Formats: sequence, C-alpha cells, structure tokens
Amino acid sequence: MVGLDIGTSGVRAAELTLGKRGITLERFGQVALPEGAVRGGEVVDVDAVAEALKQLWAQAKFSSKKVAVGVANQRVVVRQVDLPWLPVAELRKSLAFQVQDYIPMPVEQAILDFHPLEELTSDSGTRVLRVLLVAAAREMVSTSLEAVTRAGLTPSMVDLTSFAVLRATAHADSGLGGAEALVDVGAGVTNIVVHQGGVPRFVRILLMGGEDITDAVAERMGVGGSEAEAIKQSSALAVVAGAGEAHPAARALETSGSALIEEVRGSLDYFAAQSGASRISRVVLSGGGSRLGGLAERLSAATRLPVVAGHPLSLLQVGKTGLTDEQLSYVEPMVTVPVGLALGVAS
Ligand SMILES: Nc1ncnc2c1ncn2[C@@H]1O[C@H](COP(=O)(O)OP(=O)(O)OP(=O)(O)O)[C@@H](O)[C@H]1O
Ligand SMILES: [Mg+2]
Repeated sequence: MVGLDIGTSGVRAAELTLGKRGITLERFGQVALPEGAVRGGEVVDVDAVAEALKQLWAQAKFSSKKVAVGVANQRVVVRQVDLPWLPVAELRKSLAFQVQDYIPMPVEQAILDFHPLEELTSDSGTRVLRVLLVAAAREMVSTSLEAVTRAGLTPSMVDLTSFAVLRATAHADSGLGGAEALVDVGAGVTNIVVHQGGVPRFVRILLMGGEDITDAVAERMGVGGSEAEAIKQSSALAVVAGAGEAHPAARALETSGSALIEEVRGSLDYFAAQSGASRISRVVLSGGGSRLGGLAERLSAATRLPVVAGHPLSLLQVGKTGLTDEQLSYVEPMVTVPVGLALGVAS
C-alpha cells in the first residue's frame, strides 16, 4: 500500500505492508517541488509534479506503482447534511440526486462520497440519515491524477487528505472523553478534522499554513524565501501573545502566526456551536507547519485545550526504511498524510 501526498512544498510517499506483526512502514521518501507547482492544495504545473514523482520513485524504491492519492483544497467541500433515510448502499447509488442543494458546484461536475454518522428522526417524524458529505470538483481531481499517471504511476484511490490525517493521528480512546481535534498544518493548506472515536464529525480545509508565515517574514525583512524560511525556523512565536518582540521579524511572525491560530480556533468554535456537538478534549498537531516554535503553546492558550503532537509512527513497525531514528522523528509530522492515505487502502 503506497500513500501519496502532493503537498505545496513537495511530494511524499509512504509504503506500508500488512503482516503478522501488524503494519510496517517499509519506505518513505520525499522530493521538493518548485515554487508554484502546487498552490492552495491544487496541482498547477502538471509536468513539474510528474517530474518530482518520477524522481521520488527512482530514489525511494517503492515496490509498487499503485498509489492512494490525497486531495485537500478549496474545490473540495465537506458538509454535515441530513438526507432522507435509505440503506447505505442505496444512498450511495442515488447520492447525486439528493445533494445538489448542499454543494456549491453542479453535481455532474463533482465526485461525491459520504460517511454515515447517525440515524435520526426529524421534528416532522421522518427518518433521516445524517452524513458527512464530500464533494470534490472532478476537474481538479483529474488534474491531480494526470500528474500521477504522467509519472507512470496508477492511482488506485483518491481520498480526502483530512481523512488520512484522521487515520494517522486520531487517538482511539477519544470516544470516551468527548471529541478530539486533529490539525495538520502544511505550507499552504491546514486540514482540521474533529472526530469522536474515529468517526469524523467535522472537516475544515483552511487555505493557510507555514508559507503565509514565511511570506510575512520575507516581506517584513526584505529577504528571499529561503532566507525567510531560515529566520522562521530559528525563531518562535512568543509563548504569550505580544511578548518579546525584540527581533525585527518577531512582529511579522506574531501577526501571521496569530492569524493562523485564530482561524483554527474559529473553526473549532464553529464545530462547538453545532447542535449536539461533543466537547473537544484535546488538539493533535501534525504537518511541517506544526514545527513552528511556540505554536502548540499559543494554540493551547487560544483554545484552552491541551495540544499534543501527533505520532503516526507509533501505529507502525518500522522496516528497513534506510532512515535513522533521528531522521524518522524529524520527518514524522510529514509522514502523517502519506501514511494515512496508505492506511485507507488497508481498511
Ligand atoms: N522547523 C520548522 N519550523 C517552522 N516551520 C517549519 C519547520 N519545518 C517545516 N516548517 C514549515 O512546514 C511547512 C511545510 O509543511 P508540510 O510539508 O506539511 O506542507 P505540504 O504538505 O508541503 O503543504 P500543504 O499541505 O500545505 O499543501 C512549510 O511552510 C515550512 O516552512
Ligand atoms: Mg500537506
């Protein structure tokens, strides 16, 4: 099972095998993408992405060319909707006829999917099935898949990146203690999933991430992207908002970092305000952007919730990946999505 994450900063893949000892991470690799090849989670430059994928397969020696691909961008919507009750198999067949009112694109141009959440009886006494509806613009998905096939790979499955984050970082015990929020902070996209005992309740895809912070530093300091990246990585958000702004980049870091934190908090507040929402007991962070110093502390202060790092590798045995323990722990935040996509093939 190979999961493939086409991110803004690079392409990454993880190969898992299923055996007697459980699930093993056999290989992981990543190749950086040129700037602009992927924007806002959408493949813009098909050739550049295909080229990076070819390189990735040449260097990481995956044993398969079949991949599960993730998508997360503005052209995917995920909504909780109540549909007239039908057996799940029948609903799957008739979904296109039921959901036009709930999605901002013509159904003929959408790829549809859903997760059943619960059965309810509406106020008027009719039986309804509450589902998490996913609609992705067909054209956006095909562009992504074109890059994959142009690299000689075969997409076996397309999945919402948020669901990959769910499989890779959800704590199984969270059904008991309420809901848990998973937040994967990328370069240009932040995936938020609130789940209860592994069942997704709420998904939000924010077009924001570490790159916005780098850009703010670059602009403030009048330096290029790689220098701004280095400044960002060697600094941190003040643990208390507004404190310690001595460094000239601190203000830019503070403003852009707070904007990201506020968006995440706003999304969690939105979930909390839904009727019947469970209380969130904890936030789990992943993604390269979650490495920003001080982010966990500040998010914790803003949400008044414990914030912990996700550990996708804790679910797995580690095979002969060629990576040292130190390298593995360094890449762990970025392993989340490809591992979660590969896990989706197994389930
Ligand atoms: N040590 C660090 N400190 C702060 N930020 C970091 C650090 N390491 C990586 N990042 C940031 O992580 C981001 C990349 O994260 P990630 O690799 O998860 O994104 P991506 O998957 O390529 O993009 P996206 O999911 O947004 O399409 C970049 O913005 C980078 O600046
Ligand atoms: Mg990502």
